[in-house]
Amino acid sequence: MDTLAVQGVPSLLSVRNLRVSFNMKRGAVRAVDDVSFEVSRGETLGIVGESGCGKSVTALSIMRLIAEPGRIEGGQIRYGGVNLLDLSMREMRGIRGNKIAMIFQEPMTSLNPVLTIGSQISEALRLHEGLGRREALDRAVEMLSVVNIPMPEKRAREYPHQLSGGMRQRVMIAMALCCKPDVLICDEPTTALDVTIQAQIISLIEDLKVRTGAAVIMITHDLGVISEIADKVIVMYAGKIIEEGGKTDVLTNPLHPYTEGLLNAVPRIDRDSDELSVIPGMVPNLAFLPEGCRFRPRCRYAREICRSAPVKASGFGGIAPRGVSCWKFQPAWGGEADV
Ligand SMILES: Nc1ncnc2c1ncn2[C@@H]1O[C@H](COP(=O)(O)OP(=O)(O)O)[C@@H](O)[C@H]1O
Ligand SMILES: [Mg+2]
Repeated sequence: MDTLAVQGVPSLLSVRNLRVSFNMKRGAVRAVDDVSFEVSRGETLGIVGESGCGKSVTALSIMRLIAEPGRIEGGQIRYGGVNLLDLSMREMRGIRGNKIAMIFQEPMTSLNPVLTIGSQISEALRLHEGLGRREALDRAVEMLSVVNIPMPEKRAREYPHQLSGGMRQRVMIAMALCCKPDVLICDEPTTALDVTIQAQIISLIEDLKVRTGAAVIMITHDLGVISEIADKVIVMYAGKIIEEGGKTDVLTNPLHPYTEGLLNAVPRIDRDSDELSVIPGMVPNLAFLPEGCRFRPRCRYAREICRSAPVKASGFGGIAPRGVSCWKFQPAWGGEADV
């Protein structure tokens, strides 16, 4: 695969102040609240957080795949000088799957059960690249071998149910990569797979990123995946970014108590499993958010001041801009914050 022609663009995709809400019977819940980040060519941004934090909604917003009762309320998603939120659905179809592709958690839901693997991949190539039937099918087979599917000609003639979970996820990757997207969004691509296959899928994504220079957004609740592949990380909690920074900075020197808790919950060989600390409590229901800091009810450092919404503190050095939304990093906390 050749390297993409466009070079030297500082940030390829930039999400600014994104707000997404769902209109529920009890009123609107804001699943993504003022989220901003950017990702450059050849860079991998990790998005971490527990289930329900707004990771998938963020990804689906970039693809403009938020459906009723969901609504993108505000913000910008800038790609190639345009705000994707200003595009018509027709214009967006030219971008989706072509310039910006997404791999979903459960490949069975995004593969068509009645079409062969080969025809699904070649359909995308015919639509976006204008290839003829034969040519598209040849390229589909080539893509299947790129993602290490053995006997690609035979597999191309098979249906999704004939493949194992790991193989189906590879097909999804082949499909996502066949049009050489600039941005590849992976939403928990390995969660449903066993550990060995997980590692293979991750190295495949990494390998293909290096070869094509794509920007990758890797969504996961698995910090192991982040430590392996991300350059920088954002940590989400209840719809907000609570910490961001370079991978090593965030993983070795977490600032936010939530990030600290996530890291302590990772099993380690050098620690007894019963020492594993799990953050007490649960992600709040978005319809009943606590006042002030959303993590306050679960936070072991919480003080009275945390009843007011925290302000983002930034700086702290590091390779990527570092930011944290926690009162501990504000002068108002006082001198003796044990960080
Ligand atoms: N289709 C939907 N209808 C209503 N609410 C939704 C829907 N999808 C997501 N939400 C709301 O958005 C929140 C975040 O969801 P999501 O982005 O899928 O979380 P995750 O971080 O696990 O990917 C959910 O907890 C829920 O409140
Ligand atoms: Mg999700």
